[in-house]
Amino acid sequence: MESPVRQLYLLPLLLLLCDACAQVYGCNETGMLERLPRCGRTFADRMQRVDVWKWCNLSEFVVYYESFTNCTELETNIVGCYWPNPLAQSFITDIHRQFFSNCTVDRTHWEDPPDEILIPLIAVPVVLTVAMAGLVVWRSKRTEQLL
Ligand SMILES: *[C@@H]1O[C@H](CO)[C@@H](O)[C@H](O)[C@H]1NC(C)=O
Ligand SMILES: *[C@@H]1O[C@H](CO)[C@@H](O)[C@H](O)[C@H]1NC(C)=O
Ligand SMILES: *[C@@H]1O[C@H](CO)[C@@H](O)[C@H](O)[C@H]1NC(C)=O
Ligand SMILES: *[C@@H]1O[C@H](CO)[C@@H](O)[C@H](O)[C@H]1NC(C)=O
Repeated sequence: MESPVRQLYLLPLLLLLCDACAQVYGCNETGMLERLPRCGRTFADRMQRVDVWKWCNLSEFVVYYESFTNCTELETNIVGCYWPNPLAQSFITDIHRQFFSNCTVDRTHWEDPPDEILIPLIAVPVVLTVAMAGLVVWRSKRTEQLL
């Protein structure tokens, strides 16, 4: 009697996990990890031509940064994964660490990046957190009702 019900309320959980974590069929993480460094190399090559003291001024290289972001999105989609996803995000974070670790968090420089870059970076973890928290509450309520 119990197991069909259990499967029923596990289904939304599975769907959400698929959606959220890019663990979908067809997402080739190996392929993604092979492809993303190409974006990183292109970005690094271009940054080498920017004076180091300008590395913290985003407006000096925003075009490179945007095309780097585009590149990660493109390559991620080619291997069938959603963008952004945790793996791609940690790759992008590594690039940030490599180039911007010495930049002080000066709002006058960093308020500039276009929203299409900032919003996903901020919104995705927030949405995931809220979604997961909601799911936990929902599941525990369901469990209560079933008991
Ligand atoms: C995933 O990507 C790797 C590296 O490109 C490739 O060798 C492998 O065949 C791919 N796997 C699938 C299931 O497509
Ligand atoms: C950042 O770069 C832009 C474009 O070259 C320049 O106009 C601006 O003055 C720079 N800002 C700082 C704080 O150096
Ligand atoms: C990134 O992609 C968007 C949409 O595909 C495009 O409008 C934009 O010009 C691209 N930016 C760069 C720097 O390639
Ligand atoms: C940051 O500063 C350290 C120490 O001055 C230096 O060795 C390193 O190359 C710098 N990194 C970047 C990305 O500028």
